[in-house]
Amino acid sequence: MLTRKKTVRLEIRNDRVREHFAVVIASMEGFLVQGVHDTMPADLLILEIGDDTEQDFDYLTRARSTGRAKDFFLTSKNASPEVLIQALRLGVKEFITQPINEVELRKALLKYRDGSDSAPAQQKGPDRKGQIISVLGVKGGVGTTTIAVNLADSLVRLDGQPAVALIDMNRLFGEIPLFLSLEHVFNWVDISKNIARLDATYLTGILYRHRSGLRVLPSPDRVDDKGTVTPQVIEAMLRLMRTMFDYVIIDGGQAMDDISKTILRSADKVLLVAGLSLPCLINVKKLVKIFRELGYPPEPSVEVVINRFDKRSVITLREAEQSTGKKAFWAVPNDFNATMSAINQGKPLSVVEPGAEVTDSIAQMAAALAGRHTGGGREKEKERRAFLGLKLY
Ligand SMILES: Nc1ncnc2c1ncn2[C@@H]1O[C@H](COP(=O)(O)OP(=O)(O)OP(=O)(O)O)[C@@H](O)[C@H]1O
Ligand SMILES: [Mg+2]
Repeated sequence: MLTRKKTVRLEIRNDRVREHFAVVIASMEGFLVQGVHDTMPADLLILEIGDDTEQDFDYLTRARSTGRAKDFFLTSKNASPEVLIQALRLGVKEFITQPINEVELRKALLKYRDGSDSAPAQQKGPDRKGQIISVLGVKGGVGTTTIAVNLADSLVRLDGQPAVALIDMNRLFGEIPLFLSLEHVFNWVDISKNIARLDATYLTGILYRHRSGLRVLPSPDRVDDKGTVTPQVIEAMLRLMRTMFDYVIIDGGQAMDDISKTILRSADKVLLVAGLSLPCLINVKKLVKIFRELGYPPEPSVEVVINRFDKRSVITLREAEQSTGKKAFWAVPNDFNATMSAINQGKPLSVVEPGAEVTDSIAQMAAALAGRHTGGGREKEKERRAFLGLKLY
C-alpha cells in the first residue's frame, strides 16, 4: 500500500544544522520537508532545544496543543539527563544529539516512517507485573554475579518459559558479558541517551538475547558515563521492564548510592549474598540496619543467601543466623571448580555443570522464588535443607 509522505517541519536556529537535517531527510523516501513559510500542520516537528530549555519546552507543549505537529523529535547539543527526562515526559519520539550522527538520524527517521502508520509501538497486551529481584553482595567477591547470572538462567528454564531479564548494575566493572560470552551490546548509557524513545519495542531491540532466551542488559563498560545514568532513568527503565518481563534480576554489586537506593525501592525481593565469615555477617547486620533507617526495602522482602556454604566451616549457619538476626533463605554449596569453569567458559552452570550440587541448588532457589515446587523434589529439598539446618520456605 502506498502511504502518503510525512511532512516534516524544521525549527532549528543554526542554519548549518538545519541544512544538514534537510539534506538527510530529502535523501530519504517518504518525507517532505515543509517550506519555512508553510503554516500547515506537519506530521513531524524537529525542534531545536537551545540554552533556554524551559522556553523551548514551553514552545513544544504549545505546538502540540495547537496541533502544529503530531509528533516531535528534539535536537540539541545539550543532552543532559534533565533535558532527556523532560523530553521523555513530553512523549518526544527521538532525541537527536548534535553534532548529528547521520546513521543514527536515518535510523530514527526510518523507525518513525515505518512505525507510525502501524499500531503504536507500545503493545497494549496484558499488563504484566513482573517481579524485580535485586541481588546484592554484602562484600566484594562473595559470588553476587555467579548467583545473579545462574538465578536468571534457572528462572528462564522453568516450565512455561517465563520472560526473564538480567541487568548488570556494577557500573565500573560489570562482568555479566564475560559470564555469558556476550559481545558488545547497548547499555545504560545508550538507554539514557535515548530515554525519549524508551518503550517496549525499543527496549526489546537493544536487550541482548542470550541463547537460553534470557535478555541481558550489561552495565556501561565506560567510566565516562557523565552522569547520564540517573535514578530517574533507572526508575523509568524498571517500571517499563516490569510490564515486559516476569522476572527482572539485577546484579547490584555492592554499591549503596542513589541508584542502588532507587533499585531497592523498586525491588520486590532483595537477596543479600554473604559468605560464612565475620566481615560478611557484620555487613549483613549493617545493611539490615541501613534498610530499617531508610524505611525500605520492607524487611520480609530481604533474604540472606549464604554462598560457598560448607558445613565444615568454622562459623555455622545457625551461629550466622543468630548473630545477624536473619534466617538464611538459601545456602548455595561451595564448588569453586564448577563455578570457575562456568565463568571461564562464559556459560551458565546449567550448561557447564548440569548435575552439580551448586547448579541444582541455585535452580531450586529459583523455583522457590517463583513459588514453584516440583512434587517429589520437595521432599528431597526438605531433606537437603534439614541437612543444612535450614527451614523450608
Ligand atoms: N558457590 C560457589 N562456590 C565456590 N566458589 C564460588 C561460588 N560462587 C562464586 N564462587 C567463586 O567466587 C569468585 C567470585 O565470584 P563472582 O565474580 O560471582 O563474585 P562477585 O561477588 O560478583 O565479585 P565482584 O565483587 O568482583 O563483582 C569466582 O572465582 C567464583 O568462581
Ligand atoms: Mg560481580
